Amino acid sequence: MTLMEKEIFEVPEALKTCFKTNEKTLNELAEKLASRKIKNVVVAARGTSDHAGIYGKYIIESLIGVPVSLAAMSVVTRYGAELDLSDSVVLAISQSGKAADVIEYVEMAKKSGAITVTITNNNESPLALIGDYNFFLNVGEEKSVAATKTFSAQLYTIAHIVAMWADRKDLLAKLEKVPEKICQILLRNEEVAALAVRYRFMKDAFILSRGINYPLALEAALKVQETNYVLAKAYPISDFHHGPFAMVDEGMPVIMYMPAGPVAQDSMEMIKKLQAVGADLLMVTDDENLLAEGDVGFQIPFAEKEDMISAFYYATFAQLFACNLAEVKGRNPDAPRGLNKVTITK
Ligand code: AGP
Repeated sequence: MTLMEKEIFEVPEALKTCFKTNEKTLNELAEKLASRKIKNVVVAARGTSDHAGIYGKYIIESLIGVPVSLAAMSVVTRYGAELDLSDSVVLAISQSGKAADVIEYVEMAKKSGAITVTITNNNESPLALIGDYNFFLNVGEEKSVAATKTFSAQLYTIAHIVAMWADRKDLLAKLEKVPEKICQILLRNEEVAALAVRYRFMKDAFILSRGINYPLALEAALKVQETNYVLAKAYPISDFHHGPFAMVDEGMPVIMYMPAGPVAQDSMEMIKKLQAVGADLLMVTDDENLLAEGDVGFQIPFAEKEDMISAFYYATFAQLFACNLAEVKGRNPDAPRGLNKVTITK
């Protein structure tokens, strides 16, 4: 068994531990946020952690109504800018807690009077030590280069922060059931493996979604890029109409993370266009109608009117798919060429 596979299967327990570890910090942060008028949130993160942050953008903007921007870190690390972040929350995410540019950004933000919230899997890392509120994922060391359990735990932490901030007890109750539902998807690994066999010759792919699951498309693309060297590119379906669609040819693999709910109609329109040019569609969805349109599909059986937490299930599929694909392609997903577990950029 690869480390990646082992770590994906650790996700349900990891989420439970993560929540217990951070209950106190969650309450403290919620109290702080209620006492301050926050004008915006800035996310500072790289790679997979950045994708968790983009999930944060969608869920914070949808449920809290506070705008969220993604930090352009070179503005600080290379151009020496000092931003006015006095009414902001800076959400800095790094599983290693060693991301140099993220750390420098947080240092600048602290000087400017921002509330700094850090999410790391190393409680003694430099990032963990400088955050006003540090959320320790506590999921055990992640050894595979491809981040999996830390990503799911980052999503879980962000979703809890937002549920507390928005005082959404219904969302907290739904989050409690997530680990058990992820177990149900993990039990279907054989199904995912069969899909991977079908895609064993895949060299390039588009990965599409819209709304809250767009960051999942980004993460699914990163997973197959680094573990399978597939030239995968993710787009929100709205942007895909604006040019990239022209690249689709007959037989081009398009993996679609398409939840039921507010974006289902947009998905259906894109599906029809893709079918007309003969694209090969893998549909990952909880919506029966969308599922039926795919050449192949994987049904996530937890239809939710509100799709804020479907990200967890799509993440599990994306992680399993990349891991299984690496196996059928005969690659070692734990040690991708040219990569290290910790990548420091400035
Ligand atoms: C994840 O699969 C990647 N290997 C990589 O993008 C990673 O997420 C990124 O380097 C960020 O690392 P960090 O979370 O430790 O800062």
